[in-house]
Amino acid sequence: MRSTPRPGAVSSTVRRGLVAAAVLALGSTAAVATATSASAAVSCKVNYSASEWQGGMSVNLTIQNLGDALNGWTLAFTFPNSSQKVSQGWSGNWSQSGSNVTVTAMDWNKSLSTGGSTSIGFNGTWSGSNPAPTDFKINGVSCNGTPQSPSPSPSPSASPSPRVSPSASPSPRVSPSASPSPRVSPSASPSPSASPSSSPPPPGTHVDNPYSGATGYVNPDWSASAKSEPGGSRVANISTAVWLDRIAAISSGSAGNNSMGLRDHLDEAVAQDAANGSAPLTIQVVIYDLPNRDCSALASNGELKIAQNGLARYKSEYIDVIAGIMADSKYSNLRIVTVIEPDSLPNLITNVNAFQACQEAQSSGAYVQGVQYALNKLHAIKNVYTYVDAAHHAWLGWDTNFQPMVNLFYQVATGTTAGVNSIDGFIVNTANFGATVEPYFTINTSVNGQSVRQSHWVDWNWYVDEQSFSVALRNALVAKGFPNTLGMLIDTSRNGWGGSARPSGASTSTNVDTFVNESRVDRRIHAGNWCNQSGAGMGERPRANPAAGLDAYVWIKPPGESDGSSSAIDNDEGKGFDRMCDPTYGGNSLNGNNPSGALAGAPVSGHWFSAQFQQLMQNAYPPLS
Ligand code: BGC
Repeated sequence: MRSTPRPGAVSSTVRRGLVAAAVLALGSTAAVATATSASAAVSCKVNYSASEWQGGMSVNLTIQNLGDALNGWTLAFTFPNSSQKVSQGWSGNWSQSGSNVTVTAMDWNKSLSTGGSTSIGFNGTWSGSNPAPTDFKINGVSCNGTPQSPSPSPSPSASPSPRVSPSASPSPRVSPSASPSPRVSPSASPSPSASPSSSPPPPGTHVDNPYSGATGYVNPDWSASAKSEPGGSRVANISTAVWLDRIAAISSGSAGNNSMGLRDHLDEAVAQDAANGSAPLTIQVVIYDLPNRDCSALASNGELKIAQNGLARYKSEYIDVIAGIMADSKYSNLRIVTVIEPDSLPNLITNVNAFQACQEAQSSGAYVQGVQYALNKLHAIKNVYTYVDAAHHAWLGWDTNFQPMVNLFYQVATGTTAGVNSIDGFIVNTANFGATVEPYFTINTSVNGQSVRQSHWVDWNWYVDEQSFSVALRNALVAKGFPNTLGMLIDTSRNGWGGSARPSGASTSTNVDTFVNESRVDRRIHAGNWCNQSGAGMGERPRANPAAGLDAYVWIKPPGESDGSSSAIDNDEGKGFDRMCDPTYGGNSLNGNNPSGALAGAPVSGHWFSAQFQQLMQNAYPPLS
């Protein structure tokens, strides 16, 4: 872990050219939309569902098309109270002028068939009162839910599918058909920990969201390392993942201070579960040993090589053994979440041309077949949940990468025995540092007539943070054919960015670069930097149902475990020396030739890095109490 290739590993100049073309194409899309709306009979219904707390809100809107098929739509509504503001929207291009809010469709959700629906949303602020808008217009026509003539009335079967009732599901999530959206957030709190709305299902049931209503497993290995640090007890009981980073880890623990094997952890999880009372227990296990692992970087190269029969060994000595243990009936009441192969499939989207090891991973089919094999074996166990790694916004957030990634995920899933159902969800930001939410600007912010997309930092990406990216990715995956039960996870273990360098408000600069650089909480030198980032802090603590479409914020990368050594260190784990972990390195085309931003004095990946742990605590956001 973890390379952060920029889009297609092309030079900045080329990419700017490519993206400029995409912008032009979007312009013509808008023209098509207008033409369509002029001839189509528009009829629509919009559901507006807000979770609010003092001064803030998170709103989910579902647009239902009851009229002719639309190829492009613009939603408009007006806030009743002048204090109400959108601060960050997703799944659409959001803008606000006075109290009037306009949202235009993204490329992937612009087509709405008759009876079709799409979900969008935003986070916002208010003061005084926060009434819901009452009039919503699609392409200028008020949405009163009545099909217009001469457009065909949707037949009952074409109309939105039955509503999800909050009590029908232990972990309701946003659904195009769900109205009003069964959001779980108690409206009084900005950071709800979701509680199930009905009594917990019987232990061992495969639930929609394994984090909902559950307690997280505390990994004694990591907990001991954390406790050994001054101040570490403040976090030592937080649930972090167990990494199976080599075959030997199954029996005797992963790199560094870790000595517990998989059975040790599952036995301990059963004990923690018993001590816990009635709440189910969720344990997270990272599956991370594909042949040619970490093919675009060196710091987490693994033990298996494709050229040395690595795929067969991966199946028989690694996945089969793990699945055999997890299937033991002793563990059937646990909720076992597996995080599947960080960085692997995203490398096939962006790094095949630039890295021989990735090329081999693709041409041999080893990554795809390895992931499919893992999904087949793990999904077959009822109480195991599969979350496939989907990199992060600064890897996949450009058009050139986003839809190809969605297509590959779909291809991988449909090649498994259970098809799209073999994947419970996807995880973003694993072991990375991207902010969950940039609070002071969104992708729709403009400065002096220039979009933040034009800034060097954003660099024409369509996302500025992980939450907007993950929700958009989820929607695109559902649109592609994944079930609407799909849930997203965000690894927030090291993306807090608190401390003295954290901005306290939006910049007042009229220069778009200065504005973004002074406003962003992600203080990395470049969004492509990924190794032991200086200045980072622990992020949001793990919790279920933090926002629509998200199953949980999770801590997958155990804070304090290194991403890679800052100088060459001999090791018997197959790990190389990646200069992105060397603070003296001036970078390469993948990070815009910027310094690596890595901390000095780092050990080999997975090994304990006390100075980093201390800094992560110091810069935690929300701060540690
Ligand atoms: C390392 C693994 C380690 C994991 C969690 C990865 O970067 O390669 O050995 O288990 O991080 O710290």
